[in-house]
Amino acid sequence: MNQYFDNVNLPSNIREYETNFLGNIFKFKVDNGVFSKDKLDYGTRVLLLNLPISKMHGNVLDLGCGYGVVSIILSKLINASFDAVDVNRRALHLTEMNIKLNKTGGINCFESNAYDALDKNKLYDYIVTNPPIRAGKDIVYRFLREAKEHMKPTGELYFVMRKDHGAKTAIKDIGDLYKTEIIAKEKGFFVIKCFFD
Ligand SMILES: C[S@@+](CC[C@H](N)C(=O)[O-])C[C@H]1O[C@@H](n2cnc3c(N)ncnc32)[C@H](O)[C@@H]1O
Repeated sequence: MNQYFDNVNLPSNIREYETNFLGNIFKFKVDNGVFSKDKLDYGTRVLLLNLPISKMHGNVLDLGCGYGVVSIILSKLINASFDAVDVNRRALHLTEMNIKLNKTGGINCFESNAYDALDKNKLYDYIVTNPPIRAGKDIVYRFLREAKEHMKPTGELYFVMRKDHGAKTAIKDIGDLYKTEIIAKEKGFFVIKCFFD
């Protein structure tokens, strides 16, 4: 089965869409073989709308960045430095284009299988992710569980997951690592905050 993260043989067809987020207009170049190629994903929008934007700063990791929506939108709203990583090279190329298109900066975009290519000594204030459900449970749980090793003691992990994609089971599974709080429930999407004591 062709999945959006296994796209090398898909013909490319780059196009662009526009979206309004909190009164700011963003443009995104998209292509076949990337996640949510026609519009800003609803779950990602719910995630972004529920982040503590007014207090966010420091180092932010956009894990599974796709074509860059999370870090590009946040980079216009907060003063922070971003690492944006994905395994999908087509998506990473689009992220580079979208950074220029939206005339924003402070985003370091590179290929990484989950946390593999990250600097082990760099700790993040925020890790933000809409995890790749279609990649399977192992990788999703790796995203969520390994975040712990890359967060400052005051760091926070935020993720979005549909209830019917196992959000409650995921919360249970990571309960040994973090305190968790469901900070939003909207149309079946849960936004979950994970932090330390
Ligand atoms: C649900 S999409 C979210 C994309 C983007 N953040 C958004 O919200 O529109 C999940 C992303 O995770 C990426 N991904 C899948 N497996 C990965 C892995 N092992 N390491 C890093 N990223 C991965 C996919 O390529 C995809 O871009």
